[in-house]
Amino acid sequence: MQPIYLDYNATTPVDPAVAEAMQPYIAMHYGNPSSGHAFGRKAKEAVEEARARVAALLGCTSEESIFTGGGSESNNAVLKGVAYTYRQQGNHIITSQIEHPAIINPCRFLEGQGIRVTYLPVDRVGMVDPDDVRKAITPRTILISIMHANNETGTLQPIAEISRIAREHGVLVHTDAAQSVGKIPTLVDELGVDFLSIAGHKVYAPKGIGALYIRGGISIEPLIHGAGHEFGRRAGTENVIFDVGLGKACAVAKADLPRYQREVCQLRDLFQQELEKRFGDRIVLNGHPEQRLPNTLNVNFRGVIGAELLEKLPEIAASTGAACHSGEVELSSVLKAMGVPEELGMGAVRFSLGRYTTREEIERAVELIERAFRT
Ligand SMILES: Cc1ncc(COP(=O)(O)O)c(C=O)c1O
Repeated sequence: MQPIYLDYNATTPVDPAVAEAMQPYIAMHYGNPSSGHAFGRKAKEAVEEARARVAALLGCTSEESIFTGGGSESNNAVLKGVAYTYRQQGNHIITSQIEHPAIINPCRFLEGQGIRVTYLPVDRVGMVDPDDVRKAITPRTILISIMHANNETGTLQPIAEISRIAREHGVLVHTDAAQSVGKIPTLVDELGVDFLSIAGHKVYAPKGIGALYIRGGISIEPLIHGAGHEFGRRAGTENVIFDVGLGKACAVAKADLPRYQREVCQLRDLFQQELEKRFGDRIVLNGHPEQRLPNTLNVNFRGVIGAELLEKLPEIAASTGAACHSGEVELSSVLKAMGVPEELGMGAVRFSLGRYTTREEIERAVELIERAFRT
């Protein structure tokens, strides 16, 4: 029997409808979108339809959306592109301590290039205080990059409020929406952002494809120079097959969003209630109880090591909140930033549900966890 997959924040399976949409572009419609003949036109049409579908999910125009090689590339393109393009105006970037390594590490790189980076703290539930953003802004600030939803806890950040503050000061805003796209609304005008990153493999498209929203009128130096693909913003012959896949994935996500928000959230809540019923105060929630992705449940099991608990549970595929480095268990930087005590956070397990999670799977997972905890 396949283990119960509760690790949708790590990656999602490719939706069968996505795989089906990609199929004709593997063997049949192999033209280069830049070619003027029929093969090229077919490929170009497919890429542009896919782009329109991504744009529809974000509420932007097609011209504001480019395809990239994934969430990490989108994030790097914004951070490095803004730092380079706006180097005359300033050298200060504001981000948070709980960002994904795909933000933290380009920031560290930029620090080595003379950029000053402020890593804002978060509160006990993992939220950035917009007031801290306001206080951190200086006349030299060129970008604020705060993730929309955290990958470990699911906690949502007050992006719209942060964007309002940024606008008052004429500072650009980026959000890494890799975890929120397809799970909650991610309309760029509601969020008020200038840049937004998407990772295809979190939204039932393949790995190695992503997208980046760049607000119309903003121009940043591309990460990859070459020919004029993607409106001159990202060179390289289009990955037609994967572009089509991400487009389809975004169309499916848009249509499925109301159901997802309702039904996946109900299952997640059922999961949480059942664990609370059985474990009482031996489990502690990590993250905001409400302002949280509908699919994410990160809990500390008191008195156990999360990784050891999961080792006893080969029937469940989930993640721990602590990483094992050379034999030592170390608390994740996210939980550390939230001030989760080390002995408690060692017991952290992240369960993330998805489109294909069933009630039976949740009920079985609860039974299995209870049994593993007792042994
Ligand atoms: C919040 C966040 N940002 C960025 C990424 C990186 O995306 P990708 O794996 O497509 O490069 C991930 C995925 O692990 C993520 O969870």
